[in-house]
Amino acid sequence: MSNQDQRFFDVFMVVIGALIVVTIALIFLARFIAGQTQLQWVREQPETQEQVAARIAPVGRVTLPGDLADLPPVVPVVAQVAPAEVEMTGPQVYNQACLVCHGPGIGGAPTIDAPGDWQLRLDQGIEVVYQHAILGYMGPAGYMPPKGGRADLSDEEVKAAVDYMLEKALD
Ligand code: HEC
Repeated sequence: MSNQDQRFFDVFMVVIGALIVVTIALIFLARFIAGQTQLQWVREQPETQEQVAARIAPVGRVTLPGDLADLPPVVPVVAQVAPAEVEMTGPQVYNQACLVCHGPGIGGAPTIDAPGDWQLRLDQGIEVVYQHAILGYMGPAGYMPPKGGRADLSDEEVKAAVDYMLEKALD
């Protein structure tokens, strides 16, 4: 080994040694800083947890029915249309709610092809006939349910259906 090589080698070893010392010093410094900032109790501080939660919060989320309470109200696209309260005519009510029994005469229901029967019923007075149709009754032939089982019908609609039935039966 020449003299120059020997010098280079000495300097090289000193530099390597210095680097090792610096590395070890940095490891201890890092551990010290970590001890100050990343201790368990620091992580468990409510503020720290809030900050972490805010940082990792998702940008969007899926909303299920029932989650809507905490969201701003959504403006409905289509305006709600209130169901129209349209009175049905006698024939309409009859076809929808009465025909099923009074057409074929189920359970003793008087049909509109039996005028004699209807005349007897009319003899009690039209108001009684209306009341029987609206409130229902148990007659000698069978059971007539209130409004034919259609509680959603108005009294006027049921009366219109009775008028239609009488008109058909007696003409
Ligand atoms: C589930 C079967 C059934 C349905 C539906 C039904 N009725 Fe009747 N209805 C009867 C029966 C049975 C009688 C006969 C009862 C008797 O006199 O013994 C009767 C009798 C009547 C009478 C005679 C009342 C009287 O005083 O003699 C009228 C009026 C009448 N129904 C009107 C209607 C109208 C209006 C509807 C439709 C809104 C309707 N019914 C639907 C079974 C039904």
